Amino acid sequence: MMVLFASSVTGGLASANILIIAIGRRMERLDDLVEHGSKKVQSVVFDITKLDSIPVFVNHLNSDLDLVFLNSGVQFGHNFSKPEGVNRNIVRDQLTTNYLAHVHIVRPIEVKLVD
Ligand SMILES: NC(=O)c1ccc[n+]([C@@H]2O[C@H](COP(=O)([O-])OP(=O)(O)OC[C@H]3O[C@@H](n4cnc5c(N)ncnc54)[C@H](OP(=O)(O)O)[C@@H]3O)[C@@H](O)[C@H]2O)c1
Repeated sequence: MMVLFASSVTGGLASANILIIAIGRRMERLDDLVEHGSKKVQSVVFDITKLDSIPVFVNHLNSDLDLVFLNSGVQFGHNFSKPEGVNRNIVRDQLTTNYLAHVHIVRPIEVKLVD
């Protein structure tokens, strides 16, 4: 069984007969995956930027994990040569999603995988 944080590569893996738990914020996109991936895809809504909730969330995942693929990420344009136009909240959210959240999730996932 594999857990994916984010959904974009899930379809191909499901067709390779791998059981997948796909995780993202938008239920409607996850529902699409489940529909197209048939019984090989399960979905769970979670926002990986909720750093304090990560340990409890990971703890509730199915224990029968073989692999976790951290694919969640966002990319916004920032023009740092014009700092007055840079939205620091968006920069913070991008860094939290792409880097901090992954740092926070590695240890709880490691414990789960070894369990
Ligand atoms: N496509 C490219 O050319 C390219 C190139 C270089 C690097 N990358 C990076 O590779 C990663 C994946 O790219 P992609 O093209 O597959 O992007 P994508 O199709 O937009 O997938 C990103 C996924 O991340 C999920 N996600 C975003 N924020 C999240 C959050 N806070 N919590 C949980 N899930 C979250 C999104 O689902 P929800 O929005 O529903 O949560 C979505 O499923 C990204 O980090 C991207 O920046 C992509």
